[in-house]
Amino acid sequence: PASNIMIGNNTSYLRVLVSTVSCQNLTFPDWFMFGAATSSYQIEGGWNASDKGESTWDRALHTHPEIVGDGSNGDVACDSYHLWRRDVEMCAELGLDMYRFSISWPRLLPTGFSNKISEDGKNYYSNLIDGLLEKGIEPVVTMYHWDLPQYLQDLGGWANPLISDWFADYASVVYYLYADRVKYWITFNEPIVTCDSGYTKQSTPYLDDLNTGGFLCNKNLLMAHAKAYRIYEEEYKLKYNGKISLANIFVWFEPETPDDANVTELMFQLYEGRFAHPIYLGGWPPELEKVLAENGKREGYKYPRLPPFTPEEVEFVRGTADYYALNHYITRQIRQVGPGEAGSWPFYGSNEIGATMLNDPSWTPTFIDWFTLNPKALRTQLHWINDTYGVNEVMVTENGLPLLSRDLYDVERMECIRDHLEQILLAINDGIHVIGYTAWSLLDNFEWAAGYASTFGLYAVNFTDPQRTRTPRESARYYSSVTRTRSLLP
Ligand code: NOJ
Repeated sequence: PASNIMIGNNTSYLRVLVSTVSCQNLTFPDWFMFGAATSSYQIEGGWNASDKGESTWDRALHTHPEIVGDGSNGDVACDSYHLWRRDVEMCAELGLDMYRFSISWPRLLPTGFSNKISEDGKNYYSNLIDGLLEKGIEPVVTMYHWDLPQYLQDLGGWANPLISDWFADYASVVYYLYADRVKYWITFNEPIVTCDSGYTKQSTPYLDDLNTGGFLCNKNLLMAHAKAYRIYEEEYKLKYNGKISLANIFVWFEPETPDDANVTELMFQLYEGRFAHPIYLGGWPPELEKVLAENGKREGYKYPRLPPFTPEEVEFVRGTADYYALNHYITRQIRQVGPGEAGSWPFYGSNEIGATMLNDPSWTPTFIDWFTLNPKALRTQLHWINDTYGVNEVMVTENGLPLLSRDLYDVERMECIRDHLEQILLAINDGIHVIGYTAWSLLDNFEWAAGYASTFGLYAVNFTDPQRTRTPRESARYYSSVTRTRSLLP
């Protein structure tokens, strides 16, 4: 019950609630799902428990701890491998309709392949799913949230086209074990991060001399997604009628001046279109493909930057999502720049696109300089998705705020949740079918390159305590009042 997490006095969240909300209708429809999210490497720990295989993140951080600001890793993290019952209890305390978590591929399949299924891995996720369902909470399952079996990385990882079959093999096991109980699936979390950060010179260097791995990964991953989708469609859809998507990071881009409008559109295609256009409309976004090919030559690339799809592949990938899933956090401004001037924050493809990213001072700054909040962009973005891809349903699969403080009194986080939910309500009133909102994160966890230094949790975790005690923040209390009243009113 909500009273379980009533801590301190209750004036702080009322302050958030009564501050101006411009939306007329403050009540969420019955079918709208409130959720929270986590991912395996970020919370589970138990990195070598039982027969779990080594993941790329285990290997990377055991051999290169300097990748992470505080030198930490996910070996123990929140210890959710042992404390998952408490996590389920917290979801219930929050009054959630859904909980989004990810399956660790090497925990389920220690070698990466289905020749060996881990009994303990299988039971771990099975128990978690059952635990959620017992509380009436819908599991939303991500199959890949960045922890690849190291063995598959040694075979080339996402740059090897064979990986689409390896992933399909893994997905088949996942469906076989859990499709009877899971209705919402996400094949990949933020694939742009997997590809552009994992397979380019930009950061974790795996095998890229040519700086082309990101685009190879892009195509291979889309083929993997499509294969997983088609398997479900053929073998499970009729029986269980679940829904599958892929969760794109969605940075909203605004042109700095009207002259920057074209390059801004290209940025949407580089960030969104590269993963969404093939799925919703078919093939690469044409303008992006052209610009990358032409300007890629100028940058010295011999081959087309985006590996071509055959006509059969275009059809195979097209139509492989039942809803649009987006992780929304930030907005960036875009400025057109000339060759070789791609700014202080270069991103993959920035030279070819001729763009650089900036901040607008009117957006709410956070302690991370490029992480600026602009909740109104979420509504605009939902319209953009609807107009561009004509989707039936949209789910916000992540949204949240990093804070440096571990304080339980996190007013900024409450405001972040409230302001984004308000924009979702407005979008629903506009006629866009937004089916859910997912707060990142249920609890403080291992925030990749930032380690444990920044917090995202509705629940604070004490990482110096071997019990990894979880304590609700004010934002948890606020969110639970929203989920129970299904409204932004107190
Ligand atoms: C997106 C990622 O999916 C998640 O793993 C990460 O922790 C959050 N953003 C916050 O940066």
